[in-house]
Amino acid sequence: MFSSEYFDTGLYRVGTACEKWDVCRAEHGAETLPMWVADMDFPSPPAVQEAILRRAAHPTWGYTEVEAALPEAVSAFWARRHGTDFAAGELTLLPCVVTGLKTAIRAYTRPGEGVLIQSPVYGPFRMAVEATGRKLLDAPLVPDARGRYHMDLQAVEAACRAGAKLMMLCSPHNPVSRLWSREELTALLEVLGRWGVPLVSDEIHADFEYEPHSFVSVRSLAPERTVTLLAPSKTFNLAGLQTAFAVIADEWMRARFADALASGGVVSGNIFGLEAARAAFEQGDAWLDGLLAYLRGNRETLARELAAALPEAVLTPMEATYLGWMDLRAYGFHEEELLARCGRAGVMFTEGTFFGAQGDGFLRINIGCPRRNIAEAVARLRRAIVG
Ligand SMILES: Cc1ncc(COP(=O)(O)O)c(C=O)c1O
Repeated sequence: MFSSEYFDTGLYRVGTACEKWDVCRAEHGAETLPMWVADMDFPSPPAVQEAILRRAAHPTWGYTEVEAALPEAVSAFWARRHGTDFAAGELTLLPCVVTGLKTAIRAYTRPGEGVLIQSPVYGPFRMAVEATGRKLLDAPLVPDARGRYHMDLQAVEAACRAGAKLMMLCSPHNPVSRLWSREELTALLEVLGRWGVPLVSDEIHADFEYEPHSFVSVRSLAPERTVTLLAPSKTFNLAGLQTAFAVIADEWMRARFADALASGGVVSGNIFGLEAARAAFEQGDAWLDGLLAYLRGNRETLARELAAALPEAVLTPMEATYLGWMDLRAYGFHEEELLARCGRAGVMFTEGTFFGAQGDGFLRINIGCPRRNIAEAVARLRRAIVG
């Protein structure tokens, strides 16, 4: 049922207050193709829609508790798909993963203390540190000649020496599509362990893994000093339902996190988010398997089309996520010019510097869309760059 044809059909989203399509059209015109924010142009699993409609049919939506079935569904899904076992009681409900990043910062560090990130990385990592008045420490990832990125553990160690009190990891990594291996994660945790620095790992993209690589959660490697953030929002395209989770095995860390969350006023979930998450985690596997097969094809299409259209571009190998990191520096344009050219050619990507200053000359492309849009976006990118 969730065949290539199903995903090829896509979804017309204009006029649904959709950030990806409607904001793009308002800013750049009706013909612009949006390839930016991490949101897919596919219908979510039918079981999710059925669950929402079922609950909507009962005409009152008062204060609602989190029934045991939801955390059980989350942990069963992670055991099934990732071999990571955690108890349902380790879960804390969140409105979204970025709330989890900020809550971890407030729970485990004080104003002015250092929080370590690895740029280039999803912009709200940096913004969360700045917004909470902590000191931003960076151990930039290092690209090799193929554009594959690696951790710099000496820089991580130097940041620990400089006073880092918390590290935030993006795993799998947005925007550089890395699926960190067990060995890499173990080596990172070894350095952090020596300095007593806890790790918060944003694993929102965990389900987007492409063989031969496979996802390893830090929860399975160092449960006593990690916070894992997960959500159904990327996997099943439910970001508007604002439902995510933190997995924290250590009781003291979990209590600190819960206090920080409550002090920010977050006290309950959203009925439709809870219903949707449970349906997705319990019944979404077949849809997800179909999606992953389709995205593998999209990944190949992007690599092929980009190599043909812009041979000097370097596409970071995509081991994970539906986000491609394109290095266009060989064409000599700084960001402002690159974006203006894309705007005139009718295509919108996420600008590279959203992820850090070294992203100047890079664009991130979202391939969570019908395949034909990828070919069209690359054709427009070519027009933007070489005319
Ligand atoms: C790595 C990463 N973390 C968090 C988010 C945002 O998640 P949420 O909407 O749950 O805050 C995104 C969205 O693109 C993301 O890519």
